[in-house]
Amino acid sequence: MLHRVAHRGYSTVAPENTLPAFAAALRAGATLVEFDVRVTRDGVPVVIHDRTVNRTTNGSGRVWDLTADEIATLDAGSWFGAGFTGLRVPTLSETLDLLAAGPAELLVEIKPPATLDEVKSIVAQLAHRDLLDRSVVQSFDADVLRKVRDVAPDVRRGLLLFRFDAETVELSRELGVTYCNPPVADVLHDAETMAALRAAGVGVMPWTPNDMAGWRPLVDAGVAGLITDLVGELTGWVNAA
Ligand code: G3P
Ligand code: CA
Repeated sequence: MLHRVAHRGYSTVAPENTLPAFAAALRAGATLVEFDVRVTRDGVPVVIHDRTVNRTTNGSGRVWDLTADEIATLDAGSWFGAGFTGLRVPTLSETLDLLAAGPAELLVEIKPPATLDEVKSIVAQLAHRDLLDRSVVQSFDADVLRKVRDVAPDVRRGLLLFRFDAETVELSRELGVTYCNPPVADVLHDAETMAALRAAGVGVMPWTPNDMAGWRPLVDAGVAGLITDLVGELTGWVNAA
């Protein structure tokens, strides 16, 4: 089965990394819902992509310099459209409550830096809702993945990459990851690494194929899923095939 991965939720119909984007992803048939986790100054995991709140809220400053209460006052919807005014940056807790009630699995990206205690706190929230078996925890940072492995060895892990290189296969093996997720172009242009990962039993889910014409070559290259902003369109495309 090709995983239909909602990148930051169904992020073309609702503001990325918000509860409406996650609800829309579930309605649109996502099999995995991806979101980004950062930790506030007072240690609360929240769901936001950038290091700062500047782009996606009406506030300013770095997430780790702000408290959860300060972030909770921000408007995370107006930048996307007037109909979304007043949306909040969700906490991880709120996000997991919503997704736990749905049928999809979770693709939890931990943005670095993340201390061991922060990783423990994120994993504990998954465990609290019995979501460990339904989650893949991914990161661009190998040290974050080592912490996840130490805290919860049985949780599936994904290594995010900015590009395949000679060390990709060996690093994937060392980290014991289930997925290795590179940019689209690498899947199409590095058949050797693709083949080596597949031979090692590692699934490849490229980010972020938003050009529907490009989906067929990726599927033919053997990807395990597509991490896209167009998850509803991807569901339709799969169902029509
Ligand atoms: O899941 C892959 C993708 O989310 C990685 O890039 O920058 O969107 O977090 P980014
Ligand atoms: Ca992400």
